[in-house]
Amino acid sequence: MAESDKDPMQQVEAAREAFEREFERFVRFTGDSANISLGLSEAEAEQRAVAELGTRYTGKKSAIAACKKLIGRVPPEERAAFGQLVQQTEAAMSSALDQVQERLKAFIDTGRAERETVDLTIPGRRPRPGHLHPITLMRERIEDIFVSLGYAVEDDREIETDFYNFDALNVPEGHPARDPQDTFYTTDGFALRSQTSTVQIHAMQRRGAPVRMIAPGRVFRRDTPDPTHNPMFFQVEGLCVDRGITMAHLKGTLAEFVHRLFGPETRTRFRPSYFPFTEPSAEVDYSCFNCGGKGCRICKGSGWIELGGSGMVHPNVLRAANVNPEEFTGFAFGLGIDRTCARIYQLDDIRLLFENDVRFLEQFR
Ligand code: FA5
Repeated sequence: MAESDKDPMQQVEAAREAFEREFERFVRFTGDSANISLGLSEAEAEQRAVAELGTRYTGKKSAIAACKKLIGRVPPEERAAFGQLVQQTEAAMSSALDQVQERLKAFIDTGRAERETVDLTIPGRRPRPGHLHPITLMRERIEDIFVSLGYAVEDDREIETDFYNFDALNVPEGHPARDPQDTFYTTDGFALRSQTSTVQIHAMQRRGAPVRMIAPGRVFRRDTPDPTHNPMFFQVEGLCVDRGITMAHLKGTLAEFVHRLFGPETRTRFRPSYFPFTEPSAEVDYSCFNCGGKGCRICKGSGWIELGGSGMVHPNVLRAANVNPEEFTGFAFGLGIDRTCARIYQLDDIRLLFENDVRFLEQFR
């Protein structure tokens, strides 16, 4: 029998029965002892299914809506009873649906609140603070001393032309001094600087004379790695050019430097040496900070530790940088930062400084 052929009362009854059949699966969410054991997303899916059931059974196009339209057509003596039946049926459906929706909503709200709760008693994750590399710490200590003595800190390029790395430093092509300072070259003929002495030239060209500067930085040499050599290492260059500068100023400056770095009892020693860009030249040693000069494991029994090279700036170098050697004189020095760092921290091998092993580096906070 087609739906429209049923009498109106039967139509309402049919709508109620159909609703009850479909509602059956939601009955478990009703009643006081309803126990919802669903995941959050499952509960949300049930919520959508209930809403969809409501649209189909109580919405504008539902069977019950069609029954409402029949109210005017039933005989007047049956109209009141029919109207009441339609309303009661619709109210019963709506109330059942509302109850399920309420239960699901309460369940979902509680679930979400639990999921979003922050447990303030859980111990926090401790951030691991970074720290400076031991070579940087060493460089900063050296910079602080020279800045307090009135020196500027220069930073310059690591890739150089032969002119700055050799020629301007009085090391012309074919000079034997190029050999121990052999370096790496780029394919287009630039050199990775083999000493920070290159900055002497740049600084004098930039600032003219007088000038007082230090230039810490990275340098490169074709040296075979061993406990005291690395093909990449750090130097700090020092340059002081003015009228009337003598070897006494060089000795006094470096003596003051080692006093401040290692303590006032530290002594310096200058040994004659040769560098093409200084004349006279000297190697500088300082008395061992550990044994005070008696001889120990750190100074290898000699009582002295090498600091670096030094000397009075050669007139040819002043000329190459457009400074008049008749008017100005100066001194320069170049110290190895890595070796000094290794001595201070009592490392047996400077290569440890370049391996980036966090377990090693963490010791230098
Ligand atoms: C020079 O490089 C000169 N430019 C120093 C100088 C500057 C002299 C100004 C006069 C005037 P030397 O080659 O000796 O000099 O190197 C200086 C320091 O660099 C050494 O004392 C040593 O501490 C460090 N050094 C040299 N080669 C290496 C290497 N392969 N690895 C680590 N440190 C090195």
